[in-house]
Amino acid sequence: MLPLLKTRVPGPRSRALARQLRRCECRNITFISRHWPVFWERGRGCNVWDADGNRFLDLTAAFGVASLGHNNPRVITAARRQLRKLVHAMGDVHPNELKVRLAGELAALTFGRWAKQSKIQNSRSKTIFANSGSEAVEAALKTALLATGKPGVIAFVGAYHGLTYGALDATAWNFFRAPFHSQLPGFTVHVAPTEAAVRAAFRSARHGIGAVIVEPVAGRGGVLVPPDDFLAMLRRVCDEHRALLIADEIFTGFCRTGRWFAVEHWNVVPDVICVGKAMSNGFPISACVGRADVMDAWPESAGEALHTSTHLGSPLGCAMALAALAEMQRLRLDERAQRLQDRLPGRGLGLMKGVELRDAATCQNVVRGLLRRGILALNGGERGNVLTLTPPLTISERELDFAAGQIRELTELPNR
Ligand SMILES: Cc1ncc(COP(=O)(O)O)c(C=O)c1O
Repeated sequence: MLPLLKTRVPGPRSRALARQLRRCECRNITFISRHWPVFWERGRGCNVWDADGNRFLDLTAAFGVASLGHNNPRVITAARRQLRKLVHAMGDVHPNELKVRLAGELAALTFGRWAKQSKIQNSRSKTIFANSGSEAVEAALKTALLATGKPGVIAFVGAYHGLTYGALDATAWNFFRAPFHSQLPGFTVHVAPTEAAVRAAFRSARHGIGAVIVEPVAGRGGVLVPPDDFLAMLRRVCDEHRALLIADEIFTGFCRTGRWFAVEHWNVVPDVICVGKAMSNGFPISACVGRADVMDAWPESAGEALHTSTHLGSPLGCAMALAALAEMQRLRLDERAQRLQDRLPGRGLGLMKGVELRDAATCQNVVRGLLRRGILALNGGERGNVLTLTPPLTISERELDFAAGQIRELTELPNR
């Protein structure tokens, strides 16, 4: 068995750092209390060590990023190699070769694979790179307007698509929206995830709906798996109304749910897919990948891109992403996540699980209890009552069984 922590967490070093941080970081960012947080110092595989030397088993993969485990040696070697050559280039002016290779790799993994599996005829797709999930969503929303001429967007209650203004417009959580409501553009209608609600929203949109954006499995919303016909229904309704189907796979992408992309569980091909988080196993890089004919709604650049950013296509990020994607294929992480699915309690797919608890306070107690036992987990769901489990996909069966035992003890779930 893995050892339980013997010391009190947060330890003295973490608490001192928290006091310092409180003085110099905006108070809204890092939650600080007597029990929270621990300051991470180093990581390897599924383990993280804090500033006091405590070792934790990570069931978060740090927001779903470290799917290959922390500091995966192959990704780190690729990063080191690239650091010696070139850290930064001019993404949309004088780019680096790795941007070409990564865009090609993403095309092959998404629309290229889907065409090979005969889900679609045309395999061609194009990419816009970005730095965060929110920005990839922004790129997808702009693409939808250019491709359809219709500004409206349908998103779902409970959806989380990020917090920059465009993405926040699509995010449904009142908590994030309310303080900024007066500055939100308001192009999104949020509907219940039913055919009737989606059709009604299409019918009543004054200026037309250009896109439906959906998380195939709602992640931050509490790991909600839709009914089996849901995504196929969205595909049908979007086709009828000439609207784009945007799959937000920022959380679910790259094997997390036991398939390369979660839409594959339902054999649905979106027009645009947004990816980020696990793509590089730790560098802030994301992408909006769309069918070539849809992406060609963007005009050819005549010297000034309509949508770009300083760090777009970072050589370091691309090098890490290329190494991460190769490693995911080598380790067949999709099959692994699928195989290990039942070792963690709760609902979900692959290694994306949510255990619904009575309320937020109960969930917080469990998260804190786990931290004291040396296990990192997060609460999720709009009500904060879902224990969310998204470990690195490289986690061992022994580690999973240990974690599952601790979770069952703390949540009083029956043993398997
Ligand atoms: C489904 C989904 N979309 C978008 C985002 C936003 O990504 P980021 O925090 O990198 O901006 C997240 C983040 O959790 C997410 O889970």
